[in-house]
Amino acid sequence: MRLSLIPSQLSLQTLARTFSRDEVAPLAREADETGIFPLHLVKRMGELGFLAGTIAPEYGGAGMDYLSYTLISEELGWADSSVRGFLAVHGSLVSLCINDWGTEAQKQRYLPRLATGEIIGCYCLTEPNAGSDAGNLETTATLDGDEYILNGEKIWITNGGIADLAIVFATTDRAKKHKGICAFLVETNTPGFVREKMPGKELGHRASDHAHISLQSLRVPKSSLLGQEGDGFKIAMSALDHGRLGVAAGALGIAQACLDASVDFVRKRRAFGQRIGDFQMIQATIADMATEIEAARLLVYKAATMKDALSAGKALPTTRETSMAKLYATEIAVKAASNAVLLHGGRGYSNEYPVERHYRDIKGLQIYEGTSHIQRIVIARDIIGKEGKEGI
Ligand code: CAA
Repeated sequence: MRLSLIPSQLSLQTLARTFSRDEVAPLAREADETGIFPLHLVKRMGELGFLAGTIAPEYGGAGMDYLSYTLISEELGWADSSVRGFLAVHGSLVSLCINDWGTEAQKQRYLPRLATGEIIGCYCLTEPNAGSDAGNLETTATLDGDEYILNGEKIWITNGGIADLAIVFATTDRAKKHKGICAFLVETNTPGFVREKMPGKELGHRASDHAHISLQSLRVPKSSLLGQEGDGFKIAMSALDHGRLGVAAGALGIAQACLDASVDFVRKRRAFGQRIGDFQMIQATIADMATEIEAARLLVYKAATMKDALSAGKALPTTRETSMAKLYATEIAVKAASNAVLLHGGRGYSNEYPVERHYRDIKGLQIYEGTSHIQRIVIARDIIGKEGKEGI
């Protein structure tokens, strides 16, 4: 495995780093306090080619490799998880999903506008009674002539309140379990698409737009079906294989931000007549944090590199590696954020310093797009294999 970045990846990393530090980070505290997503950044991310990501140029994409795209998520995660979360949903769960599964007409209709940010995407899988158990969703799709009628409720839909396009998962027959699930491309101005803000105040990601969506006898033409009838669950899972890599990279960014802030702090803060960074207990914490971040980075970059090989037809699916990257990166980032708050002492407990926000935000990454428990299920099932097919 190549361990160094090539020049095009390095220059995208520099571009993303400069954008994140100069344009995203300065807004993060206010966005967190007001709960208002800085929408103008969507347009900027479109201009910089971040939304166009790995989509092919014929559909308005930037045709970049997955590792480059992952570096962007890492840099955005360093600055603000709400902005990075926007990209994971819009770019990975929606654009890449249409890129993988859409018809030519669907790709032509949506991908170029998603790539510039002219339209915003959201991914409607989670329901009040189907979170981790996504195959058990209750939203129904009933065929009526040339249209499907959708009815149901979706919750925790990131970008839901601002999206123009939603990928909605619904079942035509609950008795068929996951094989009855279909995916639909729904334009959110369709009558029957009703959205409101999620109730309550979230622990983190306070600038993210999280919506509760009701589908009230919403009619979509048959042509809005993404993939075939019954493909919906596989489509949802394959989209999550893309999204989880972005979350893993975002967690890496948070962990790095926590390390950077801590190093800066322990160099400046003095106690008992010396820099606190000269105490061995503090040094041990910094050393462990840095080592775990490097290990997570290797897992995240490996999963991205394998995705590149997969899209070139040179590798097997990367589901296991993506879940390993998300599991490990989010778990070590939780630890890094907790230690960063501790190292900052009373200051870390206040939003005067960004580690307080990172500490709250990282819990979200450990939960959405599949909790750490779900990632362990995915990894273990891939290792152990289906009964009768062990070792294949
Ligand atoms: N790619 C393609 N197909 C896949 C797949 C993948 N990664 N993973 C599973 N499948 C296929 C399986 O091969 C199987 O196919 P067959 O029927 O042909 O054998 C089928 O899907 C069913 O698979 P399982 O038996 O493994 O399904 P399960 O019901 O046991 O569920 C699970 C598996 C891993 C627990 C899955 O339900 C899961 O990932 N749950 C978590 C859901 C999740 O991440 N939700 C987050 C929502 S999005 C969000 O949070 C962000 C937001 O803002 C919207």
